[in-house]
Amino acid sequence: MKYVGIIGAGTMGIGIAQVAATNGCKVLVYDANPKQAETATLGLEKTLIKLVDKQKISADKMTEILSNISIATELKDFKECELIIEAIIENKEIKTKVFTELESHVSESCIIGSNTSSISITSLGAELKNPERFIGIHFFNPAPIMPLVEVIPSLLTEKSLADKIYHLMKEWGKTPVIAKDIPGFIVNRIARPYYGEALRIVEENIATPEQVDDAMKTYGNFKMGPFELMDLIGIDVNFSVTTTVYKDYFYDPKYKPSLLQQRMSEAKLHGRKTGKGFYDYSEGAEKPVPQKDEVLYDDIFHRILSMLINEAVEAKRLGIASDEDLDLAMQKGVNYPKGLLQWGKEIGYDLVTEVLENLYDEYQEDRYRQSPLLRRM
Ligand SMILES: NC(=O)c1ccc[n+]([C@@H]2O[C@H](COP(=O)([O-])OP(=O)(O)OC[C@H]3O[C@@H](n4cnc5c(N)ncnc54)[C@H](O)[C@@H]3O)[C@@H](O)[C@H]2O)c1
Repeated sequence: MKYVGIIGAGTMGIGIAQVAATNGCKVLVYDANPKQAETATLGLEKTLIKLVDKQKISADKMTEILSNISIATELKDFKECELIIEAIIENKEIKTKVFTELESHVSESCIIGSNTSSISITSLGAELKNPERFIGIHFFNPAPIMPLVEVIPSLLTEKSLADKIYHLMKEWGKTPVIAKDIPGFIVNRIARPYYGEALRIVEENIATPEQVDDAMKTYGNFKMGPFELMDLIGIDVNFSVTTTVYKDYFYDPKYKPSLLQQRMSEAKLHGRKTGKGFYDYSEGAEKPVPQKDEVLYDDIFHRILSMLINEAVEAKRLGIASDEDLDLAMQKGVNYPKGLLQWGKEIGYDLVTEVLENLYDEYQEDRYRQSPLLRRM
């Protein structure tokens, strides 16, 4: 695959362009905002200069990458492309409009991929003239650094296409996994309780954000606690993914969003990007020191981890991906220290069941129901 097109030169688009160009593809980048494509490529140049300074890549490699990337001024320019990856705004109508125009310019054999995080691949593909050529190719942020790529065929995708993209991603040095087209795919579905349960613990004044973060980092070896991570992702973005997953699962109470998160989002306390979220990022602000409490920490850790393991076991039961890929995805997409199925084995599924039973007894809520497979395991 030599000629690749990228639509959308935002955070993800330029990152994916960098990956493709690093692997010898000729990459065309298009953005509806003409200035954005230029700003993004200039930004990429700065990033590459830093990599050269740190001796992570050679100056020749930098020149090669940059010379592989050109800016397209209209979708017509994509006519020679063999693969196009769309990474524009997360809006089904706008994406569909772009695909419709794109199909009128490209060849029949051109593969069209979408980097959507939360829109059903089948619903996007069904709007195409040729839905067989369409597939989800979901990179993680930052795309050049995070190894995981979820490859998501729709119900209408041509059978061999997922394998083809899987192998291409391997060639690009990525860790691909094939996932079913379900809300949140693998990572964004399984990871929901990491945020949801943490938010509930804070909403109910059981612990402070810094205590929850400290518990998950010290007991679980997670690189970032849930609140630090939400502040990084953007509280608005994280809230919107949760809301989409909740709606798309026909309002399954397991995925019910948090009111606290909604209020934070309304207040534009979006995290790092607005300077304030669960933590204050303004100059001179000091991070609160958590009040350590071993019993509390142990409870928090087991509660959140058990919810995550239950979600992974349910994904296994539904065959969303292979066991190996389910574990790989959480490690390579969101840096979890271990795969959740493996973690379940290590701490014992009995313990996971016991924690969930206690929560269910206490709350009497369907949110804490166990996967039927967890009970069998
Ligand atoms: N940011 C993440 O962490 C992340 C991770 C994985 C997937 N995604 C998905 O990737 C996609 C892009 O996300 P992002 O964070 O890069 O967004 P972004 O806002 O940084 O960039 C989107 C770009 O698309 C451009 N655009 C909007 N409408 C367009 C159109 N009609 N034609 C061409 N360009 C258009 C915008 O000008 C903007 O530059 C979304 O579908 C998102 O769900 C995001």
